[in-house]
Amino acid sequence: MHTTVADLLGPGGGPCLDVCCGTGAHAGVPAGLGWTPIGVDLSGGQLRHAAERLPVSRAHAAALPIADASLPAAMCVLSSTDVPDYPAVLREVARVLRPGGRFVHVGVHPCFVGAFADWSQRPRIVVDERYADRSRSFDSWYTGGVRVRAGAWHVPLADLLNATVTAGLRLVRVTEAGPDGIPDLLGFLAVREP
Ligand SMILES: C[S@@+](CC[C@H](N)C(=O)[O-])C[C@H]1O[C@@H](n2cnc3c(N)ncnc32)[C@H](O)[C@@H]1O
Repeated sequence: MHTTVADLLGPGGGPCLDVCCGTGAHAGVPAGLGWTPIGVDLSGGQLRHAAERLPVSRAHAAALPIADASLPAAMCVLSSTDVPDYPAVLREVARVLRPGGRFVHVGVHPCFVGAFADWSQRPRIVVDERYADRSRSFDSWYTGGVRVRAGAWHVPLADLLNATVTAGLRLVRVTEAGPDGIPDLLGFLAVREP
């Protein structure tokens, strides 16, 4: 996870906004590359932990308390399934990034992870027709996981990539990673168009 974020973000300087930073578990990644991590999250409970790792604000990811075109970098890790409208988050990231600013997305792979994907016969992953369902789902083949309690929103791959481009972010690089050759993580670097 950290390797994927680091590879996509690359070295730099100035603030790197961690959108939906949670407990700030990834703050060390941009810091180790020369960036200054700052975070936003909706959860005060998560932010109490994050504040020990990076400066934080409580805010909605689709309404960031940040000026237009003011940031050189932003990242969002493992959170696209936790917001009801990830395309709105992408538009907001594009708004606050400077032209040429970098955005790193890392999330569960939308083709292989979700209510529609049964991993119980791994390495055979069975995907069903719920792939097309964009609503919040509490379904999971694994009943011991967090998703049966918290639910998840699914953004199919084409929607994710199209929303990124439509937001004004130019895709630069895409990565896939996961166990046994089955990618359960998808990441990409996109750059704010001038
Ligand atoms: C699965 S956690 C990931 C946290 C962190 N990025 C990580 O990888 O450890 C998803 C996070 O998204 C936050 N979140 C959910 N909806 C949000 C919203 N609308 N605006 C900001 N944060 C939100 C949650 O509070 C939670 O901290």
